[in-house]
Order: sequence, then structure tokens, then C-alpha cells
Amino acid sequence: MTPLDRRAFGPGFKFGVATSAYQIEGATKEDGRGPSIWDKFCQIDGAIKHGHCGDVACDHYHRMQDDVALMRWLGVDTYRFSVAWPRIVPTGRGAVCAAGLDFYERLVDQLLKCGIEPCVTLYHWDLPHALAGGWLARDTALAFAEYAAAVARRLGDRVGLWLTHNEPWCQAFLGYEMGIFAPGHKSLKDALLCAHHLLVSHGLSVQALRSIVKAPIGIAPNFMPTYPASEAEEDVAAAKRWDGYFNRWFLEPALGLGYPRDMVELFASAMPAASDQDMRLIAQPIDVLGVNYYERLVVADNPAGGVLRIKSVTEGNHPRTMDREIYPQGLLDTLRRLHQKYRIPRLVITENGAAFPDEVAADGKVHDTARIEFLQSHFEKVIEARAEGIPVDTYHVWSLLDNFEWNQGYSVRYGLVHVDFESQRRIPKDSAEFYRSLTHS
Ligand code: FCB
Repeated sequence: MTPLDRRAFGPGFKFGVATSAYQIEGATKEDGRGPSIWDKFCQIDGAIKHGHCGDVACDHYHRMQDDVALMRWLGVDTYRFSVAWPRIVPTGRGAVCAAGLDFYERLVDQLLKCGIEPCVTLYHWDLPHALAGGWLARDTALAFAEYAAAVARRLGDRVGLWLTHNEPWCQAFLGYEMGIFAPGHKSLKDALLCAHHLLVSHGLSVQALRSIVKAPIGIAPNFMPTYPASEAEEDVAAAKRWDGYFNRWFLEPALGLGYPRDMVELFASAMPAASDQDMRLIAQPIDVLGVNYYERLVVADNPAGGVLRIKSVTEGNHPRTMDREIYPQGLLDTLRRLHQKYRIPRLVITENGAAFPDEVAADGKVHDTARIEFLQSHFEKVIEARAEGIPVDTYHVWSLLDNFEWNQGYSVRYGLVHVDFESQRRIPKDSAEFYRSLTHS
């Protein structure tokens, strides 16, 4: 591997790390925080591997200063974190909890002191449990805009980038259609209604943020470039269906293109009512598109494959992480498409990273060579994208720390920094040293 130099990315390129509140903070009952749908979901028997939950997680709530010191050591330019809505409005709607805002204010100030730009995600799936009806209730979208305004009023002068939602596809479809994420519903109709309210809440919160902050605003969907298993017409159509479901469902309405027509036809009676007024609201102009990228999908037509009538097929012999195929070209293909087809003026990679079964070796270190190779191969694609003139200017590694990986509990480690969940000891892995060399080059 040729060592990378940050100059290869061109001037002004920013390197960052990303986390989310429920995955690292712990302290779920402190300083007035209300319960979230994830606190409740974790209590369901069998919902989470090994019965894990985020009660303690990385104890970041109490170790924030040390974790920011780690970021400073890493030399990152930006830190993407999420604000826990149940800390700010414990009952979902109504009284704002000052202590919750205080925590994020301390974090933001500490970051700025260390020369790190704060990037805030307002929703990374931890909905206040008190909001009856969850995302099936339209009122939740209104509550979200009020919460967004409360955060912006306190932090608006210091945050460098605002993101409304993280991976709305996961919230809607893993949470309401497949039932493997909170709140655990299993209905396509529910998922589509949730998706619509997420989009409405995005529009409302962009409006609210615009009236308070000057910094750029965006959303961070996840993208899974989809390739047909063959050139057969049926497979090409199947790939288009998965693409509509996964990649276009949130993006196109947010860009003012409306819901993908082919998919609306396919979903037929499961579709929620979506007025023109809603569609205009959803299409608020944004400044930045966040890109979360982990993997691709190769699909074939399969009449027995549910509403989408597809099956996923494995192609080629690509190396894998603990949970996914490694396919860096998919990142470049995604960036190209967002630039060429959708003409997005500014792209920020909000998440990319890999899980491996890291262990602390006899020398006390974590030799995660596979993660270094993963990162390097994706960085090379970012450099290629930049050379082609694609306006991608930031890359966040998921994640700073090993953390609570949703329904996988603590069994899947994505961190640049190893966390011993018994002692809370942090050990920067070899990949952290690698990233540090890049940021310092
Ligand atoms: C993404 C999520 C993030 C983390 C990574 C591995 O889908 O946004 O919270 O779980 O995957």
C-alpha cells in the first residue's frame, strides 16, 4: 500500500469521525433525559443480540472531554455527532430541558477549543418514547421542528453543519416494515407513512433551522448502489426497483422530484396520502447532501421476492467485513450518480467504515490491518471522485469508538478506537494511527 498524503485530496478537504448519541452516550436516565424508543426496544426479549442495550454504552456522557482529546490526537477537522432528542425534550413535545442542552453546549465548546468543527445530526433514531404514535403520527413531525429550533437557538452560532435525519430508510423500513429496529413494526403501510412523516419533518426542520442559523443544512441518507445480476431485462428492472426503494425514496422528494413514480405504482394501496403542499414542504432547498455508504447490492428478478419481487445475489469474490462485502467502487459510483444525475452542489461523506472482530493483542495493541486496507481503498475512490470534479469535500469515518451497534449490540466493532466495555478503557487501534498519519501529512 502506498501511504496516502492529505494533499492528494486537494486543498480544503476535511477529515472527520462520526458517532451517534444512543450508540455512545450511556447515562440514559441522567439530567432529565426521557426514555427513547430504543430504550424500550432493547427491553424486548430477543430484539438485541445478547440482550445488550445502550444504558452505559461508551459512557461518553461522562467521558466527553477525554473523547474530544482523542479526536484532537487523531487530528480530525470535523466531528459528526447526534443530539439525543429525549435529552432536549424528554416528553417529546413541550418543556425543553436545559441540562440536556448544556451537555451539547459543553461538547461543542470543547470541540471548538480543539479546532474541530462540530457537525450536528438532529435525528439518529432515538425518538422520545412519550410521543404516542411515533412516526405514524403527523404531530411527531411538528414536534421535531420545535426540537430542532430549540437546539439551533442554543448552538446555532457554533455548529458548522446541520443534518436533519440520519438514514431515514433505516428508521422507516428497518423500524416499521421489517421490525428489526425500534419501534419494531412489521408493515409496509406503516413504513411508508413513517417515511412520509420523516420527510415532512425534514422540510419543517430545514425551515426552522433556516430562520435561526447561517451554517449549511442537509440530510444524511444511506446509499446502496444497486447492480443487476445480468443484462436480462427482468434483472435490470429488479435492480431499478431496489434502487427506488432504497436510494430514491427519500432523495427524490427531498430534491423536489416527488416520490419515484415507478415505486408509487408498485406500492399502490400501501401509499400514504401525500398532498402537493406536503411535497413542496419536503422539497426545502438544502446546501449539502450527506452520504452514508457501506455496501452495494446485486439483485435478480424473483417473482416470489415480496412486493419488490427481487432476490439479492452474491457476485464475485470480494473480501468481507464482519457484516458486509467490501466494495469501494460503490462509493465512487454513488458519488458520480449524485453529481451527474442529481447535480448536488456539495457532497459530504457522513459515514463510511467497517466492522472487524478486533482483539487486543499481547502487546496491548489492536492490529486491525483489514480496517486500514478498507479505509485506504475507499480514500482512493474519494481522490478519484475529486479528480473528476465531483464536489465531495469531507469524509467522516464511522466510527470514532466501538459502540452499541443497534440490534447487533456490542458484538460488532466499527471503531478506530477500541473500547473495553467493562473498564471503558480506550485503545487507539492501528487504524487510528493510520488515520492520524493521514491527517498530519
Ligand atoms: C449506519 C448507522 C450507524 C452505524 C453504522 C454501522 O447504518 O447510521 O449508526 O450503525 O451503520
